[in-house]
Amino acid sequence: MKRIVIFASGSGTNAEQIILHFKNNNQGNVVGVLSNNLHAKVLEKAKNHDVEAFSFDKNELSDGTVLKIVESLQPDLIVLAGFLLKFPSDIISKYPECIINIHPALLPKYGGKGMYGMNVHKAVLENKEKETGITIHYVNEHYDEGGIIFQKTVSIENCLTPEEVAIKVQELEHEYFPVVVEKLLFSNF
Ligand code: GAR
Repeated sequence: MKRIVIFASGSGTNAEQIILHFKNNNQGNVVGVLSNNLHAKVLEKAKNHDVEAFSFDKNELSDGTVLKIVESLQPDLIVLAGFLLKFPSDIISKYPECIINIHPALLPKYGGKGMYGMNVHKAVLENKEKETGITIHYVNEHYDEGGIIFQKTVSIENCLTPEEVAIKVQELEHEYFPVVVEKLLFSNF
């Protein structure tokens, strides 16, 4: 049984899609969800699906506390699904090539510090892009710079607001993220 651990900071719609995707799969399972936000909806979602949920503060992310929780969960893959803090180097070096992130744009464009959620969609519209998309990539020490695993593009020619762009991007995320996680775990992607 392959063990998936998810980090998320907010509502956790992607985390929930991954939990559901693996719910009746006896080869892989989400074994823990961790959040830096005690009140994040993702923690409730995890508990509703009987997945262990943990919250931590910023200090615990860097002082080894979170590393200990992760080690106790024995992950095969760590998935960042809307996790908005810089991921700590102690976990990155302990799990090389085992940590992935989803970004709501076509990296290397619209990445880096401060580029998350609606900020990304606003920037994309301001630049009059005709298309945007999603990027799933490995996590390294630098924001949004790890090797790209998967990208998917969508036309936004008819989108007038960042919220409309967000809906299109979220549809792609929910369709492809769980599938990419499965492929990474069970085949040579
Ligand atoms: C997702 O759109 C994800 O791509 C984005 O946060 C959202 C989380 O949504 N991540 C970033 O912007 C990282 N830079 P969710 O909580 O509903 O899954």
